[in-house]
Amino acid sequence: MEENRINIDSDLCNGCGLCAGVCPTGTISLVEGKAAVSGEDSFSCGHCEAVCPQGAIRVMAIDEEMSRYKTFTGDQQWLPPGKFSTSALVQLMASRRSCRCFTDQPVERAMLEDLVKVGITAPSGTNSQSWTFTILPTRKAVTSFAEYIASYFGRLNTTAEKTLLRLFLRLIGKGELDAYYHGYYRKVKEALKEWHGEGRDRLFHGSTAAILIGSKPGASCPAEDALLATQNILLAAHSMGLGSCLIGYAVAAMKKDPSIQRPMGIPSEEGIHAVIALGYPDEVYQRVAGRKKVTPRYFEGQQPRF
Ligand SMILES: Cc1cc2nc3c(=O)[nH]c(=O)nc-3n(C[C@H](O)[C@H](O)[C@H](O)COP(=O)(O)O)c2cc1C
Repeated sequence: MEENRINIDSDLCNGCGLCAGVCPTGTISLVEGKAAVSGEDSFSCGHCEAVCPQGAIRVMAIDEEMSRYKTFTGDQQWLPPGKFSTSALVQLMASRRSCRCFTDQPVERAMLEDLVKVGITAPSGTNSQSWTFTILPTRKAVTSFAEYIASYFGRLNTTAEKTLLRLFLRLIGKGELDAYYHGYYRKVKEALKEWHGEGRDRLFHGSTAAILIGSKPGASCPAEDALLATQNILLAAHSMGLGSCLIGYAVAAMKKDPSIQRPMGIPSEEGIHAVIALGYPDEVYQRVAGRKKVTPRYFEGQQPRF
């Protein structure tokens, strides 16, 4: 396919075959001692380009601009396994906390754009990279989005107040509304009262920016891709001095009422998988995050009995 074109400079190629060895789709092979595109299934992962010691391969779909950052220096040197401090990495991961107290300070647009670029260093199923990013760059944009979410939950609460309807739906096997009523209704009612009364923002916690991560239709693993990019953004945000918080309420509202996407220019066929509130944090912790006990299960292997 044209968009997955690979250019190989046969004068530079020394026939080492490393590109063919790392190609996940068998697109490249050695023909008469030189690398050649012999298959049609490339998904432009760029492994061949990255492994070539001669710099002989160019994967046309890769946009170098996506690896250039404005707010920090991006080192293009590949780190071999084991060459990064695990201790430093885990400290970063455990130091990221969901921030529920942001200052009024706006986030620079360049930082938000860099966060998107960091997000897309994540893996994606068949390298489809079908993720989408919508930036809400100001407190005004976040507040406007919050109005749509608040309106959705206002309507949901009104419906959930109808006891007979809830019970009827539960009886016919649709217990979702009843579960919402018992799990969230009261909390949401309180939050809406504070939002409309004092303007207290218990949804976005006063964040001054947000990024919505979605997927275009047709991706093989849309939610997984979007959420992997999301985790990259959360970690990078912390390293850049920003606080972040996933806003599941906003995702839930958009899943139930995709019309919320329209004013933001998000096509209805795009699914939104994560909403990240971002801003400068107004909270300080004394130590890293602890977690509940988890016990992994082992499977040591056995002969299958079919
Ligand atoms: C899918 C998902 C949705 C979440 N939604 C919200 C939310 O709507 N509001 C909020 O304040 N925190 C939300 N959180 C944050 C979690 O409460 C938080 O991750 C958890 O308490 C662990 O704390 P930590 O992130 O500081 O480690 C969400 C987290 C995840 C993973």
